[in-house]
Amino acid sequence: MITRIVNAKDGLDEAVSLIKNGELVVFPTETVYGLGANAYDAEAVLKIFEAKGRPQDNPLIVHISDASQAREVARDIPEGYYRLAEKFMPGALTVVLKKSERVPYVVTAGGDTVAVRMPDNETARELISRSFPLAAPSANRSKHVSPTSARHVYDDLEGRVPLILDGGECRVGIESTVLDLTSDTPVILRPGAVTAEMLAPVLGIVPGSGKVIGIARSPGMKYEHYAPNAEAYAARDAASAAEFYDKCAAEGRRPVLLFDDVHAAELGARERISLGGDVEDFMRSVYAALRLAERDHDVIIVQTLEGGGRAASVMNRVMKAVGGKMI
Ligand code: TXA
Ligand code: MG
Repeated sequence: MITRIVNAKDGLDEAVSLIKNGELVVFPTETVYGLGANAYDAEAVLKIFEAKGRPQDNPLIVHISDASQAREVARDIPEGYYRLAEKFMPGALTVVLKKSERVPYVVTAGGDTVAVRMPDNETARELISRSFPLAAPSANRSKHVSPTSARHVYDDLEGRVPLILDGGECRVGIESTVLDLTSDTPVILRPGAVTAEMLAPVLGIVPGSGKVIGIARSPGMKYEHYAPNAEAYAARDAASAAEFYDKCAAEGRRPVLLFDDVHAAELGARERISLGGDVEDFMRSVYAALRLAERDHDVIIVQTLEGGGRAASVMNRVMKAVGGKMI
């Protein structure tokens, strides 16, 4: 199969026909690129798992073009959903609801719940409104770093998908927050740019964390995710990063530092890929930096950020990328 990258607006008509014909299309979102299929077509959805090499017991997010479209894919929707939708949709928030009969079990990995998200990208929403709700995971090979550009997708899925809609670089840079609304109290199953602090005033309660409860509800959490093809470590601070870098270099290995510009002077002439100047820059650029780093380096040393909120969400991904290894 030939894989083409086409400007998102130019490729929209073709993308609509492909989806209607039960084929896959990669589309841009504000978080990461998605690998989409008609969520109502079990056969089309199976192609997603095949193209990604993803285990079928990990459920997919269903992308909708309008918050009210949740009524097609979910049932018994709690009132809290609509309050969240008003504030965070379109956006980087995925909400887990009870699934409707229209959604086949291949989408939900056999479960009775469905994850729903309205992406903040016009092309994505137009594609959905002109075809179907789209079941879509991140458009990377299973276990690799999520893609934040069309080129990243091509590097992973060339020959496995017919069309990649190029919408430029993703604005947010890490996957959406996943919030389960089907449990007694709301639970964050995956942290993201929409934080517990932001959700609390809308929910009227601070959501719990999937790290403590609800693990069984988020099958994705048991898999290793986001890992680059190189040995990777999180650094306690710039000094320990510099020391470890020098040790690796002395052994003839090719280390690289992924650090923000604040630490530039401290790290001196050592090779560094910039993660920008603040937490939003860090979030937006960290996956691209990991993919760039793995090309020419065998040791990747990533900065850690202190604090809660978005810093903690990015660190959740960094710790997965490094497999929990700290120096
Ligand atoms: O930002 C995003 O969420 C991106 C873009 C493309 O929308 N998508 C994404 O999909 O990250 P994926 O498949 O890579 O991650 C979906 C996560 C997985 O951890 C999965 O286990 C969880 O959501 N999930 C999906 N359906 C679920 C359900 N019914 N109950 C609990 N967790 C669910
Ligand atoms: Mg993924």
